[in-house]
Amino acid sequence: MKISKVSSLRGELRIPGDKSISHRSVMLGAIAEGDTAVSGFLKSADCLATIDCFRKLGISIEEITDGSLYMNGACGNGPLIVIHGKGLRGLKAPKESLNAMNSGTTVRLLSGILAGQNFTSRIEGDRSLSKRPMKRIIRPLEVMGCNIASEDKNNCLPLIIRGGSLKGIRYKSPVASAQVKSCILLAGLYADAPTFFTEPSLSRNHTELMLSTFGGNLKTRKKEKEPEHFSVIPKPPKQAGASDDSNEYTTIIYPGTILRGQRITVPGDISSAAYFIAAGLITPNSEITLRNVGINETRDGILRVARSMGANIHPFNVRMEGREPVADLIIRSSHLTGTQIGGALIPTLIDELPVIAVMAACAEGKTEIRDASELRVKESDRLASIITCLTLLGIRVEETQSGMIIEGRGKKAGSAADASGRNAVFHGSVIDPQGDHRIAMAFSIAGLVSDTPVVIKDTDCVRISYPDFYKDLKSLEG
Ligand code: S3P
Repeated sequence: MKISKVSSLRGELRIPGDKSISHRSVMLGAIAEGDTAVSGFLKSADCLATIDCFRKLGISIEEITDGSLYMNGACGNGPLIVIHGKGLRGLKAPKESLNAMNSGTTVRLLSGILAGQNFTSRIEGDRSLSKRPMKRIIRPLEVMGCNIASEDKNNCLPLIIRGGSLKGIRYKSPVASAQVKSCILLAGLYADAPTFFTEPSLSRNHTELMLSTFGGNLKTRKKEKEPEHFSVIPKPPKQAGASDDSNEYTTIIYPGTILRGQRITVPGDISSAAYFIAAGLITPNSEITLRNVGINETRDGILRVARSMGANIHPFNVRMEGREPVADLIIRSSHLTGTQIGGALIPTLIDELPVIAVMAACAEGKTEIRDASELRVKESDRLASIITCLTLLGIRVEETQSGMIIEGRGKKAGSAADASGRNAVFHGSVIDPQGDHRIAMAFSIAGLVSDTPVVIKDTDCVRISYPDFYKDLKSLEG
């Protein structure tokens, strides 16, 4: 795919459904009693892998193209996914291995549910997923009493899960990961006592919100800062690099509730909107309206970072879809300046960092990204991928211990070249996303402000999260 410079982007897009929420709607629908009807479901390869796994676990999942035919149109006229839930204990032993394909969310959340079943299952995945760390879920599930083993010497896939009775635990996760948290909360539904899950800062909370909607009993609390006058005994000085625990959050799940089928409307995915937020900001003479963007505060880090860079983004029509906040956004070309990104902000924009790096390259001044080591264990080593791709496109970037410093090539506001709106930030090159959908899409956006085209090798991977990405991008070109 060849992406060439454009003079402007204009128009309106409806952002496709949120991937994280789509996965959860199928999983919770399957273990709830009765039907769950989902509108706005993201039919991407990752979410279809989740549907496939639950079908193999004996759950009937239908696709209804005309919603008016279901419950006299009570769920609207659009397409629906209907999950015929069988309750917490209603899954059947699968006859073959479950295949999570490329999807980390599928394997990690599903493992939590399978840990509580009275049968054995095996989960495998594609080459990329089979390299991603699973110890982070194996360890806490073992503490809960689950018999879970990796067939791989590095604790990666395939996993064999011999489900059974589970104990409620208190677990402090070393990483802020919604996949780990959700795995343990879902296993907690099957435990003999409450489970406490603590994370260093708050990761996306869609599982907690949706579990509450389905009737689950759980709560989240922030660790309170110790008041200064409290420390009668002087505290030992903090070790360099030691984590600050004042951002810690604990979620407690109480077992023993029955989940009931629901109607779910999936908001648009801010991680997909991110490409067009960046595109609208960095392309001259542009104005784009993005409809239906989920703005849950555990996901909206890109908006906060963009604002700190001077972005012109106007949210309107702010509303709720169930427990999830949603808005429409107007994005206008902006003069961006470098910024600092790190700490508790990172989990709120973790999947957006590749395209934020592209924005940073277009900003005036340096941008530093810190505390982003988790990028190393995504669909590719995204720290390495971002640095390689930016360098190929002519950007100076320095790798640091947990991130990078990007030297933006944006011109000073008001300079002649800037006013002409014809600046190219990048030098065209060939980018190999190595099967990573977010790298493919982020660096496609770079092509819009590149002197010669950016060629993305093998764009098939965008079907993981955004099958219509290139069609939507084309629709905005003037
Ligand atoms: C996800 C959580 C995040 C994110 C992933 C989706 C989820 O992963 O990167 O794309 O749906 O829970 P981690 O939990 O590994 O941070």
